This record gives sequence, structure tokens and C-alpha cells, in this order.
Amino acid sequence: MKPRLIVSRQIPPAVADRIRAEFDCPFPEGQDMDADTVIRMLTETRADALMLTSHLPFRAETIARIPDHVRIAATCSVGTDHIDIAAAKARGLPMSNTPDVLTECTADLTFMLILNACRRATEYAAIMRDGWRHGYGLGEMMGLRAWGKTLGILGLGRIGQAVAQRARGFGMTVLYSGPRRLPVDQEHGATYFADFRAMLPHCDILSLHAPGGAATAGIMNAETFALLPKGAVFVNAARGGLVDEDALIAALQSGHLFAAGLDVFRNEPEYDLRFAALPNVFLTPHMGSGTVETRNAMGFRTLDNIAAVLSGKPPLDPLWT
Ligand code: DGY
Repeated sequence: MKPRLIVSRQIPPAVADRIRAEFDCPFPEGQDMDADTVIRMLTETRADALMLTSHLPFRAETIARIPDHVRIAATCSVGTDHIDIAAAKARGLPMSNTPDVLTECTADLTFMLILNACRRATEYAAIMRDGWRHGYGLGEMMGLRAWGKTLGILGLGRIGQAVAQRARGFGMTVLYSGPRRLPVDQEHGATYFADFRAMLPHCDILSLHAPGGAATAGIMNAETFALLPKGAVFVNAARGGLVDEDALIAALQSGHLFAAGLDVFRNEPEYDLRFAALPNVFLTPHMGSGTVETRNAMGFRTLDNIAAVLSGKPPLDPLWT
């Protein structure tokens, strides 16, 4: 008999094919479920495993309602700020995530944000949709050169390091800050600032790659935006909760920031429509991992974690030990 699995969000077709082959699953292609539906489905099907994503807040009250026959809850994401890991551990519910497989795509997207923000892509690409009549002019379409700039990175984890590697190809000076200095071979030539605030005045471009959660909530606020030099560019492909969005909008409106590139928002899927009205903001809908290759790899890694636990082994990427 195949193990029973519930998938709480739509997933890529190739991952659904593998689920069909290896699991007994009522919706192998996934269905968008809230917490109550997840609990009901797990209970009704007597499921062995749950595959979730970051859309599902997996808080203590939900974890407490997971039926005992569920042997693993595996999130198909690298981020874990939607999960109360302490509650899962207290409950003894094995959980896993998908580190590594989305590093390169998210770093690519970060550079997409940097380049599009620096070159004012929102404004200038819109001209082509609207009808470009004026022709080439030396005094027009001027953004900022990304090449050779000083890039500050908050959080030199896997994704931050992949961004630092790309930055070298753009002739950038790279600075970073985080809870501790990394071994030199992981710094990729970046210079460490123990004090995040002390780094900010040196950044032409600031890119966030820290995890979300209480420790980093609102780390970019009116005070820290003011520490960036006038004309700086700000990008965020990490978590919206890192940013006080009112402060960011004020800094963009006043011209203190030249531009921003944003892939994540504080209250997703809601986002502040004032961003959409600002011509100097380049927006994407939380799609750092959004390539066929990476989304498949995330799905397969999630299934590998589930298979490991169902065969009596620990998860490959445990959230707690
Ligand atoms: C991740 O994997 O953490 C992505 O941001 C989606 O939640």
C-alpha cells in the first residue's frame, strides 16, 4: 500500500507526477487549503504525511491539531518563518524544509531586482507599451550604473553568498552584516560589519537576505533607511516583514532612495498599492524560486524528506533535532 499524503498548495506538474507514482494522494497536483481544511483532510484520509508551503501559517494551535498518524510535515520552502518550530519539536512532529535547491534562482532574481531598479525599468519599459515616439536622446532614460557599486548584504547565508558571487562579476565592492563573521572561504571577498547600522552609510545598493521572524522584524525602518546614502537603491527578495513599508514608501517618495526592487511584502498576498503607483519601484510577486528547474527541485526534495521519514530515517533537512 502506498503512503497517504496531503498537499496543501498547488505544485508543479512534474512533482504531481511523482506523487501519483509514489503516494496515495487525493489531490496530487495540490489544492490551496487553509489550516482547518488541512486538518480535516489529514484526519479523513488518515494521512501519513503533509506537504505544505509558506502560504500556510503553521502555528502552535495548528500543530496541536495534527493527527497522530501524520509522521512528517514537510514545507516546500527554504523559509520557515511560517512555522512554530519549537511547537513542532515539543509535539515531536518531524519537519523539514528545502535549503540549497533555490539558492541560485533567488540570487538571479536579486540581480534582476537590482538591475531593474537601477535602470528604472518600470518607468522606461512602460514607455514601450505606451508608444515610444521621441527616439533616442542623451538626456533621457537615465538610471544608475550597477557596475562597480558598493553592495551591502544583510545576511550572508546561502542566498547572500550566491548574490556576493554574482556581484564580483559586476565589479562591485561587497559588504555584509549578520549575527557573526563567516570563515573567509565563505565571504566571497565581502567585508564584514558586526554593526549593521555602521554598514548602511557605505551602501550604494542594499540587499536583504536575512530570515524573517521576530528577530529581524522591521529592521529596515525610518531610522535605518535614513542611514543609507541619499540616492541608494534598496532590494528585498527575502521577507516583507524585515521592512517597515511606510518608512520605505516615504524614503522613495522623498527621493532619499533612488529606487527599490521588491519581491516580497509584509502582508502577502496583500501588498501596499502605493508601491504600484511609484515609478521608481520594480515589483515582482514573490517569485525568487520561480523557475521550472527550481520549483521541481523543491518539490522533489520535499518528497525525498517525506520518503526518508516514512522509511524510518530522519528527514534529510530537519527543522529540529
Ligand atoms: C521560500 O522558499 O522560502 C520562498 O520564499 C517561498 O516561501
